[in-house]
Amino acid sequence: MGIKDHKLLVVDDDLEMCGLLSDVLKGEDFSVLAIHNSFEASKILKKEEFDVVITDLKMKGLKGLDLLEEAKQVAPLTPVIIITAFGTIESAIKAMKMGAYDYITKPFQMDELIITVKKALENRLLKKEVMRLKKEVESRYHFHHLIGKSPSMQKIYDLIERISDTSSNVLITGESGTGKELVAKAIHYNGIRKEGRFIAVNCAAIPETLLESELFGYKKGAFTDAKADKRGLVFEANEGTLFMDEVTEMPPTLQAKLLRVIEEKEVRPLGDTHSYPIDVRIISTSNRDIKSMIQEGRFREDLYYRLNVIDVQLPPLRERKEDLPLLIQHFVNKFSNTFKKTISEVSEESIKLLINYSWPGNVREVENVIQRAITLCQHERILPEDLPQLIVREEKGDLLEKAFDMKYTVDQLEKEYIKKVLVEVGGNKSKAAEVLGLDRKTLYRKLQGD
Ligand SMILES: Nc1ncnc2c1ncn2[C@@H]1O[C@H](COP(=O)(O)OP(=O)(O)OP(=O)(O)O)[C@@H](O)[C@H]1O
Ligand SMILES: [Mg+2]
Repeated sequence: MGIKDHKLLVVDDDLEMCGLLSDVLKGEDFSVLAIHNSFEASKILKKEEFDVVITDLKMKGLKGLDLLEEAKQVAPLTPVIIITAFGTIESAIKAMKMGAYDYITKPFQMDELIITVKKALENRLLKKEVMRLKKEVESRYHFHHLIGKSPSMQKIYDLIERISDTSSNVLITGESGTGKELVAKAIHYNGIRKEGRFIAVNCAAIPETLLESELFGYKKGAFTDAKADKRGLVFEANEGTLFMDEVTEMPPTLQAKLLRVIEEKEVRPLGDTHSYPIDVRIISTSNRDIKSMIQEGRFREDLYYRLNVIDVQLPPLRERKEDLPLLIQHFVNKFSNTFKKTISEVSEESIKLLINYSWPGNVREVENVIQRAITLCQHERILPEDLPQLIVREEKGDLLEKAFDMKYTVDQLEKEYIKKVLVEVGGNKSKAAEVLGLDRKTLYRKLQGD
């Protein structure tokens, strides 16, 4: 960006001064708009964006501070430089507090002004860059409906972006509840096929005989109950995505038929003598160890290679615990809204318990635990008592070892120990005080110091 692209607004009701400032700055090759009527300047500020605003403080009409206030509202990133006469330094300080970038006192050297303007420009550029980067980072806290900021989720987001606009088949593997279906939808709805349909079929839920006709359709009279022609799901997904959930549960005969559909790009409904061309992308999932299923002859290797052109492996939640706080907050907001409650927080102690837990059911389990907690919770914050026993109990690791690992201070260790005892006695403070060898008052004091 050349310096000429930098637009400056100069406001001073003193015509002579206004002209002088404008000339000097133009001499530095800035593009300058000099206005001596502050009301007019205010109007222009609302319409045009400037890189720096330079305004006198004491003016007829709208004062410099008012103009500053307006500028902060309409263009918060635009630095405002205040020019003040010697003796009004207090107003200048007020201006700084209100967010002015800098001030210069009259009389001043023009060089001083130019340096201040250049610094202000740099400052604006930096602020803009920070905003841009912040936005970039923030947007990566989620992708489509997926939430997570861990490096492994970042990789998943990148991969989804790269493959969305292709039509290659995708196999998504991962433990139950890791978000396989969400990822499949993100791929579909972000890519060229989003205008087509996303047809989901759960291969484990539908009996073998039904699955065949559901998938490939049938001709009227193909079997006793076939009263009319039926288009199969593969057809419905034409030009879109066929989502085959738990594809490894498919019986061998259907595996062979699906393989033919993929290889020949056409489908023949049951009882039909014709085949019909189709164009579908298949996204399938499995939470099984496919390699050993292939070895045991339960899943066709050739089909596996056709389905697994791109493989997406979703890591279990216990391997990306840094995503937990975001997920927890997301579900707290979601269920608080659904159940019309005003719970917006999870107590620190509960967060610790939740982070310590191993989450065998992955994100789905987080969703369920938070839903339950919001339902039970009678306070503003989710407390350990709102969490399932399983989670509270799993925390029973060796406190001393943990303290050592986490480099606790004696105070922290004391707090942890008190909390542990409290949980142990079901929150009964008198009992806790007895176990701890403290009187109740001391216990209360220590708890309040929290
Ligand atoms: N990264 C995530 N961000 C937000 N919600 C998620 C995420 N991952 C999963 N979920 C939510 O968790 C639940 C389970 O996700 P999903 O159904 O996609 O899992 P799955 O891997 O298909 O599980 P299964 O193998 O049991 O079918 C859904 O309600 C989903 O919205
Ligand atoms: Mg699923």
